[in-house]
Amino acid sequence: MFPGIQQQLIDRGIHNTATLRAMQKVPREAFVPKEITKEAYQDNPLPIGYGQTISQPYIVGYMTALSQPSKQKKVLEIGTGSGYQAAVLGEVFKEVYSIEIIPELANQANKTLQELKYSNVHVRCSDGYFGWPEKGPFDAILVTAAAEKVPPPLLEQLAEKGRLIIPVGSQGWFQELMVYEKIKGQIHARRTIGVRFVPFTRHD
Ligand SMILES: C[S@@+](CC[C@H](N)C(=O)[O-])C[C@H]1O[C@@H](n2cnc3c(N)ncnc32)[C@H](O)[C@@H]1O
Repeated sequence: MFPGIQQQLIDRGIHNTATLRAMQKVPREAFVPKEITKEAYQDNPLPIGYGQTISQPYIVGYMTALSQPSKQKKVLEIGTGSGYQAAVLGEVFKEVYSIEIIPELANQANKTLQELKYSNVHVRCSDGYFGWPEKGPFDAILVTAAAEKVPPPLLEQLAEKGRLIIPVGSQGWFQELMVYEKIKGQIHARRTIGVRFVPFTRHD
């Protein structure tokens, strides 16, 4: 299903079996605009409208593997976009909660996920800064838009041993993909790779 899986993911160090299996299974072409379905598996992000993008497959695989997936765990994603990352998470987590700030994208992603029968993936339209407290705490939180600072509500909604994975840095430039892990109630931060994400936006 994923033609470049060896070169794009495995050769670059992604070895988490559940992640690779999920990316082999989820039809990425269902999440990109019809005019560019032939480009779906290219090694780069693609436009999905409203100035937003579906992330490069490698970044989706990298963040998924880093989230320590398990069918016993619950995950929150901020930045549903096309719904592709949410579908990959739906394959490897028990429940997925995903928040998108642009209503049209949230609706389209919901439709695609329903057509593909991802009944464990729940999408809502709101400002992801505040997380989804009614459904927390989460074993992992993935933010797929670049923030200048970490939203404190997301750290609060992290379960013990949970990981928040978030690109932090100047918007429109490169950011660092940070991991914040909660151990005995304390937050431990570490840097991973350099990334470039679209901005984390807020309603005025
Ligand atoms: C790189 S795209 C996400 C790609 C997506 N994960 C996918 O698989 O297609 C980033 C998304 O984050 C959304 N976003 C930005 N700021 C947000 C916020 N405060 N709350 C929720 N979503 C936000 C954008 O509208 C955009 O759709």
